[in-house]
Amino acid sequence: MSSNKPVHRIAIVGTGVIGASWAAYYLAHGFDVIATDPAPNAEANLRAYVKDAWDLLTAVGLAQGASLDRLSFASNMKDALAEADFVQENGPERPDFKIKLFAEMDEATPQDSIIASSSSGLTMDVIQSGCKHPERCVIGHPFNPPHIIPLVEVVGGAKTSEETIQRAMEFYASIGKKPIRLYKALPGHVANRFQAALYKEVLYLVQQGVLSVEDADAAICYGPGLRWGVMGPSLQWHLGGGADGIHHFMEHLMQPLAGMIATLDAPDVTNSLKQSVVDGVLREAGGRPVEQLAKQENEVLMGLLTLRARAGL
Ligand SMILES: NC(=O)c1ccc[n+]([C@@H]2O[C@H](COP(=O)([O-])OP(=O)(O)OC[C@H]3O[C@@H](n4cnc5c(N)ncnc54)[C@H](O)[C@@H]3O)[C@@H](O)[C@H]2O)c1
Repeated sequence: MSSNKPVHRIAIVGTGVIGASWAAYYLAHGFDVIATDPAPNAEANLRAYVKDAWDLLTAVGLAQGASLDRLSFASNMKDALAEADFVQENGPERPDFKIKLFAEMDEATPQDSIIASSSSGLTMDVIQSGCKHPERCVIGHPFNPPHIIPLVEVVGGAKTSEETIQRAMEFYASIGKKPIRLYKALPGHVANRFQAALYKEVLYLVQQGVLSVEDADAAICYGPGLRWGVMGPSLQWHLGGGADGIHHFMEHLMQPLAGMIATLDAPDVTNSLKQSVVDGVLREAGGRPVEQLAKQENEVLMGLLTLRARAGL
């Protein structure tokens, strides 16, 4: 496999929630994008999604030559893959399905092109098991929506080559994503596990009657969540430790934190608890449709990312 193959043409396999957003991102970064998806209306839905995302992507700046006209759609997957330099797969999340899909993609994609899967929950060991060239298959797991959120978790399977992992890391970084490398495959990778760890405590405290769902959201998004959007939880301790930073934190504050960690308990996820969350969320949403909330959130996130970039963060 050539290590310096430049990426010009990207194939998007599966254009649902994640694939459509990836397509918008890659187009905004000046690539030719060819998409494929067997669902009826897939092309029309994809074009509508990308057009909708384009205003925000334009506001933050398109790459030279980026254009909606560089999006094409192939109803036959082989046509989409025949000249792809990089493939981003976003098909249904079922092991049997992904194994078969990857075997077919592997047959149809040039041997020196990377095939990345957006899979949230499957490991590459499983996904690549039917491939003749598993060394170029890798997980490139985005955070929803990929056209806004920079994080990509990169992790290989046992048969993925180190070169593929390096190339995927470099490629994502070169187009403004924030790739992180995982050295072990875990169910849920890591970012979703962080969400699960925090949400475990939200559910526990709501179940214990400590606070409402709305106030748990407020506690996070008006408190530590604001800071986490700028600097991560470990670097925050450096700031929290005063002039001596992380050293002071370790000496004086880690023990109380460790004590608190040891007392954390798990909620019992009953139907009644689930209903409490639904009721709280609907009160918070206050009748605003999901699309409106997503649009507002995306605009604020883009503003935050722009400010971070300006501040060199
Ligand atoms: N939704 C999320 O928040 C999220 C976040 C990160 C990663 N992911 C991962 O992204 C992948 C896609 O998830 P999604 O939420 O976009 O699902 P989705 O159901 O919205 O999209 C899946 C798409 O795959 C298409 N498809 C079915 N068979 C196909 C085939 N043979 N070839 C090509 N396309 C085919 C479907 O028509 C559908 O449009 C999954 O692996 C999931 O784990 C999802």
